[in-house]
Amino acid sequence: MNYAMELVYLVSSVLFILGLKGLSHPESARRGMHMAELGMLFAVVGTLVGGKIVTWEWIITGIAIGSAIGAAMSIFMPMTAMPQRIALSHAFGALAAVLVGVNEYIEKGHLGELSNGLMSAIGFEVLFGALTVTGSLMAFGKLNEMIKGAPITYKGQNAVNITMFLVAVCMFVYLIFFPYNYMMFYAMIAVSFLIGVFIVLPIGGADMPVVISLMNSYAGLAAAATGFAIDNKVLIIAGSLDGSSGFILSIIMSKAMNRSFGNVLFGAVGAPQVETAGLAEARPITKFGIEDTKFVLEQAERVVIVPGYGMAVAQAQHAVRELSDELEKRKIKVEFAIHPVAGRMPGHMNVLLAEANVSYDQLLEMEMINPTMDSVDVCIVIGANDVVNPAARTEKSSPIYGMPIIDVDKAKTVIVMKRSMATGFAGIENPLFYEPNTKMLFGDAKTVMQELVAEFKKR
Ligand code: TAP
Repeated sequence: MNYAMELVYLVSSVLFILGLKGLSHPESARRGMHMAELGMLFAVVGTLVGGKIVTWEWIITGIAIGSAIGAAMSIFMPMTAMPQRIALSHAFGALAAVLVGVNEYIEKGHLGELSNGLMSAIGFEVLFGALTVTGSLMAFGKLNEMIKGAPITYKGQNAVNITMFLVAVCMFVYLIFFPYNYMMFYAMIAVSFLIGVFIVLPIGGADMPVVISLMNSYAGLAAAATGFAIDNKVLIIAGSLDGSSGFILSIIMSKAMNRSFGNVLFGAVGAPQVETAGLAEARPITKFGIEDTKFVLEQAERVVIVPGYGMAVAQAQHAVRELSDELEKRKIKVEFAIHPVAGRMPGHMNVLLAEANVSYDQLLEMEMINPTMDSVDVCIVIGANDVVNPAARTEKSSPIYGMPIIDVDKAKTVIVMKRSMATGFAGIENPLFYEPNTKMLFGDAKTVMQELVAEFKKR
């Protein structure tokens, strides 16, 4: 029976690795996702055939409740709320690791089988698991606007956080040598729960994606430690894959937002809710209507579309694809410029545009498009704001100074499509709107795009 379990686990682990590889490119991402799903199915089946089942009633009840919650989340949560959903999933996953760790501690403790090695695995699992639970819940609360999104800071914050972490580590080391100190074990879990709350407090909403992928990494490490504690190889492999990929993603996102990774971990970072006051009154803007937009687009040879969060909210991707088709029919070259943190989750724009059947060849990353931006005739910015804000390049005092952006302001004409002069996620003014080559096209992204397509179809 155990050989069967090991074999099923092996197949499952291979599927996880292939799944992760598939996720590295939009074209193979769907296949990768299905492989990972299949891998998870094998892992569950492997556990069920492993012969360690004590009661089937609880397992079936757990599967029923978990599936109902999962299905409801996938049906009712909009794509734009995906970061919150992911944060919640990390909290659940980490809580499972903590509970398994506590159970293993109690069970092996009663049997007098808490070796130093086993205690190291359990201790690591509950320490990282517990801080991931509260850290992820804090991230969820901030993204869902249940807790103030701006950084919450106070004097000596770093010292407090580092001291708490050191205390937890000391408790962990103590337990490795004196594992039967139950009070110490539960005190370590309590401190770890507190650490999760305190480390996310000073992190601003704008840096939450990095925190979420970091929590993803911690949850993976906790799962890998669980694998060591209960001698489950698929947990060790899947946890390590999760831990390392989450860590790499955190570093990539820190770079895309020009944040020092260390700062995101320990400092009070994130764009504060400040506005470059006075811009709106001081400088005029140029408004465009549907007909003006069509006229300018018809004269163009090369058009670049820059999608952002607003396209996702309005679900305008299909209308945007139709516009691209209309332009291409007129022999106008159309490309899409994708910023790595446009929208609210990594790959948000790629997913939406793929859903609307935009060809992958038309999608260009920021680094590819920027050097050629001055040869672009018209750049249409659809519901994007922070990722095209030239203040990141020019204004040293700006909270987003240094963040790489798509240099749309260098195009011959820029059409900015949004509903109002409101700020984006970072809450800061955008000088792009006042540039002489910028034309503001106001309205809901989907409605405006549909009107524009209809205008093109008139003849
Ligand atoms: P934002 O800076 O958030 O700007 C989106 C703009 O869309 C807003 O200014 C809004 O202006 C407009 N908008 C909203 N609803 C619209 C609608 N129905 N129709 C037309 N326009 C609409 O978006 P971005 O440029 O994509 O930048 C993303 C930001 O989110 C960055 O600051 C990034 O750091 C942050 N973030 C990213 C992630 C990841 S990993 N992608 C996760 C969390 C946060 P109006 O209200 O005037 O319409």
